Amino acid sequence: MSGDEPIKVALLGCGTVGTEVVRLLTDQAGDLTARVGAPVELTGIAVRRPNKHREVPEELLTTDAVALVDSDVDVVVEVIGGIEPARTLLLRALRAGKSVVTANKALLAEHSAELSEAADASGADLYFEAAVAGAIPLLRPLRESLAGDRITRVMGIVNGTTNFILSAMDSTGAGYSETLEEASRLGYAEADPTADVDGYDAASKAAILASLAFHTRVTASDVHREGISAVSAADIAAAKGLGRTVKLLAICERVTDTAQDGSTTESVAVRVHPAMIPRSHPLAGVGGAFNAVFVEADAAGEMMFYGQGAGGAPTASAVLGDLVAVARNRVVSGRGPRESAYAALPVRPMGQTPTRYHLSLDVADRAGVLAQVAAVFAEHDVSIAAVRQQGRVDDASLVIVTHAAPEAALRSTVDKIGGLPVVREVVSVMRVEGEEQ
Ligand code: NDP
Ligand code: HSE
Repeated sequence: MSGDEPIKVALLGCGTVGTEVVRLLTDQAGDLTARVGAPVELTGIAVRRPNKHREVPEELLTTDAVALVDSDVDVVVEVIGGIEPARTLLLRALRAGKSVVTANKALLAEHSAELSEAADASGADLYFEAAVAGAIPLLRPLRESLAGDRITRVMGIVNGTTNFILSAMDSTGAGYSETLEEASRLGYAEADPTADVDGYDAASKAAILASLAFHTRVTASDVHREGISAVSAADIAAAKGLGRTVKLLAICERVTDTAQDGSTTESVAVRVHPAMIPRSHPLAGVGGAFNAVFVEADAAGEMMFYGQGAGGAPTASAVLGDLVAVARNRVVSGRGPRESAYAALPVRPMGQTPTRYHLSLDVADRAGVLAQVAAVFAEHDVSIAAVRQQGRVDDASLVIVTHAAPEAALRSTVDKIGGLPVVREVVSVMRVEGEEQ
């Protein structure tokens, strides 16, 4: 391709993100030409309702996304969202050798294998920086900058809506439902907030992060997922009392088991759930709708990536970064990194994944109660890290934090403790992250 020939781009979708992609492509046309080494020309925009899009040139709009993908374009940028028709359109583009830039985490978390295989077969690029943590450059560091290191853990706040709600609950002491209503009123939560509050959005992002970090195909269905709707004002208060705060975390870990003969086996554990973290942890200070991801690697040590995880302009920034990268590759007839899934590590079931629990109990305040509770922990081989008891008139509040133990053992311990006659109420159960095991 010569430097005078334009890189022709088809845009699929022109909503919150797509509108900003068009604006950046227009406003920065001169700079983009200089950075790519060829002009970048937007040749068409596929939407459902063209009459709604007064902000973009009318002659570019079409409702025929298939025809646009099949037209003479070099790159297809997809910001429609959802599985279909995005999947079919992108497979069609990749199979025809057209490079793809997408922000579609739901699609990638389910279908990245077939998309990557289509890209490999035709030699096209598949870039998706905007799919996780909006504007924050995170996937390229995992895929390229850290490709020579061994990543052990990726832990982060990757959903802005839930972080806004949990931050507000922490600062006001209000309950979940009223805070969600406030988040909707302020425009932070969508009309249907299910994907965010039930953890589906974060689980898709966790699957993408784990796949890149551990060179292993991980899909959304491999991710243990819990949302924030069960987080109560009591949980938040219990966390505060212990110098902690509650965050919805996406946690991707490399877990190494050592057998009696000293041999080791590795697996990956990927989960999304609310957890208490110390107020001194770097993720604890991430408030409002911001995202932040903490990465640990053998040689590099600890790193944190922080910034705006959503919104039209921030997400479009990541899309444009990818567009420049794939356009440059086209100009030099090259290709960016392929999918790397060679490690193919097994995904560990949640029941076998080591975690730590915090428990807050209302118990009868009499001799032998602590011993009965401690006996249940011992029976399940769960080691206690800390206990705090506060007596009242005829009952007591008992707070217990465990060492790391398999999730299944912790869950059975809590179930059995809840059934002890001396336990009046299990007030709060929450996993603990971000501190020594
Ligand atoms: P919007 O709902 O705002 O926009 C979707 C666009 O796709 C609309 O222009 C819509 O057309 C168009 N569209 C829908 N179905 C079709 C179809 N069948 N054929 C052609 N066009 C279609 O979504 P967002 O911009 O918010 O999100 C886009 C993608 O970016 C999603 O994958 C999302 O997960 C991801 N993303 C979004 C972020 C954000 O902050 N919004 C952050 C990070 C990622 P019409 O307008 O005519 O209805
Ligand atoms: N709904 C998502 C969030 C948008 O709240 O973070 C970004 O993917």
